[in-house]
Amino acid sequence: MIVDIQGVRDSALARLAAATTSDEVRAIELAVLGKRGALTDLKTALGKLATIDEKKAAGSALNEATVAVGDALAARLGELRHAERELQLEVERIDLTEILQRPTRGHAHVVTQAWQRLEDVFVGLGFQVAEGPEVETDWHNFEALNMPPNHPARSMHDTFYVEHGAPGSTVLRTHTSPVQIRVMLNTPPPIYMVMPGRVFRNETTDATHLAVFHQIEGLVIDRGITLADLAGTVESFTKSFFGSEFSSRLRPSYFPFTEPSAEFDIRTPAGNWLELGGCGMVHPNVLTAVGLDPEEWSGFAFGFGIDRMAKERHGIGDVREMFTNDIRFLEQF
Ligand code: PHE
Repeated sequence: MIVDIQGVRDSALARLAAATTSDEVRAIELAVLGKRGALTDLKTALGKLATIDEKKAAGSALNEATVAVGDALAARLGELRHAERELQLEVERIDLTEILQRPTRGHAHVVTQAWQRLEDVFVGLGFQVAEGPEVETDWHNFEALNMPPNHPARSMHDTFYVEHGAPGSTVLRTHTSPVQIRVMLNTPPPIYMVMPGRVFRNETTDATHLAVFHQIEGLVIDRGITLADLAGTVESFTKSFFGSEFSSRLRPSYFPFTEPSAEFDIRTPAGNWLELGGCGMVHPNVLTAVGLDPEEWSGFAFGFGIDRMAKERHGIGDVREMFTNDIRFLEQF
């Protein structure tokens, strides 16, 4: 009997040492110490032994085996539970470590660069910089600029209307010229200002047209300003911005808010003429609309596209590419 007890004990200890999961340990516990367990069965068998001495010896061997198996069981269970917990933690671990890539340093967008360069050149020529709102009233965008309702020139400005106030009274500005109106209303002359900003036209985009683009407007109001001052300013600007090998010319044109009006072109060193923008002497009706006396004050205005300047400067084929935000494209400039 004692040999049986030791056999059960030794095999239980060996199986425990080899167990790899807490479930296995529990199965061993059941098989050895459980109701139908091997040691439990032997305990029942004690009663069948013949002598008191035999019962005593077998009983203490049984106790020793029960304690030994019980201790080994608890120890192994503790070890395996710990290992299982570690494993679970490892599996459920969330990696919150930041991936520290070396941050790449960005730079101003190609159109922002052109915008800033233009401002710099005009500031160098003695102009101040002003900005106005992108959402405008019909009055600032058209009417004060000598384009009353139904004026044919309005059809050239495919306008986005904003649902605000009376129908048709609020627009996304179609040009930067309404900023002229705001400047003249707020600033007593003399005025020497440029007004860069974003403008909107409800038209289909293509390689040379965007529905959202940028213009810079120039406005001079003073006493005795003539067309010669306008031509001279355009020429000074051309040389400062493009270089002394460039020159400019004015070509008669039409804008409702200037009279006379002109387009201005620049001549590249290779001898090509490039159309840049519009200009002219501020129309007396515009001066009157903002409360300036056309007999006392005169002036000129000009306006041209900033995106166009960036496109020409860098030889970009399609203006739309500047706004698809492909970093591989933008990185080049
Ligand atoms: N605002 C005109 C346009 O967008 C350009 C312009 C500005 C013309 C100032 C003359 C004077 O077409």
